[in-house]
Amino acid sequence: MGTTPKNPSAGEDHGNAAFGFRRVAAETRQSLVNDVFSTVAGRYDLMNDLMSGGLHRLWKDDLITWLNPPRSRRPFSLIDVAAGTGDITLKALGDGGPGCRAVLCDINPAMLEVGRGRLRQAGLADRASLVIGNAEALPFADQRFDALTVAFGIRNVTRIDKALAEARRVLKTGGRFLCLEFSCCDVPMLDRLYDFHSFEVIPRLGALAAGAAEPYRYLVESIRKFPDQRRFADMLGEAGFGRVSFRNLTGGIAAIHSGWRL
Ligand SMILES: C[S@@+](CC[C@H](N)C(=O)[O-])C[C@H]1O[C@@H](n2cnc3c(N)ncnc32)[C@H](O)[C@@H]1O
Repeated sequence: MGTTPKNPSAGEDHGNAAFGFRRVAAETRQSLVNDVFSTVAGRYDLMNDLMSGGLHRLWKDDLITWLNPPRSRRPFSLIDVAAGTGDITLKALGDGGPGCRAVLCDINPAMLEVGRGRLRQAGLADRASLVIGNAEALPFADQRFDALTVAFGIRNVTRIDKALAEARRVLKTGGRFLCLEFSCCDVPMLDRLYDFHSFEVIPRLGALAAGAAEPYRYLVESIRKFPDQRRFADMLGEAGFGRVSFRNLTGGIAAIHSGWRL
């Protein structure tokens, strides 16, 4: 079980960007990320359960508990950025009252198509709309939403600072930003077990269950390139969010960050 560098330099420098542990031109990174999610879209939900042993569901429940969408008829508009197959929207609309509406925004049409089917099946399609869009240039007017969520999406974005600025722009004053992302596990033994699971188990599971190891190698490596809890909290502050805080989940394997547009 090797030890793995935790969160080496993140993001973009001199026109280069991290794609997993590789450096690629910043302008080609997004298309490589899109290829990953186009490849995994049909099996994304199954693989999420297999790879996390179902833990991602508990973490997403924690995010929705923190979001606390109103149960009443009060209008509440949520945008779920990098919404993928719609887990966060399904949970938020399921918990919230009839006044809750959501926009699912993702750059990848294949992921959103899976989400469309799931919303229909859950009888929630009339309270949700799907929009293809880049987190770095959200196709929405200023101050449109009461809350913005992004779950396991922000690390896939090339220019995180741009995505954070956009998140703040589309939130109303008093609106809330909540981000669930893999983070930095600092619990002795758990971190070694987590390394082993990440680098030895997940790519093999990807090869066996989804017929492709490479996309899962990228997903694991991208987690290690992402800033740790404190650095990401600082980035929220730099983007202009107020009352920034975070909670660790499962020893810091994941974390939820919260910030407000004040
Ligand atoms: C790991 S999935 C997360 C999906 C979902 N939020 C969840 O928690 O299950 C990451 C998603 O980010 C999307 N994504 C990647 N880059 C993006 C960008 N620049 N703008 C918007 N979405 C992006 C991908 O298409 C993919 O659907």
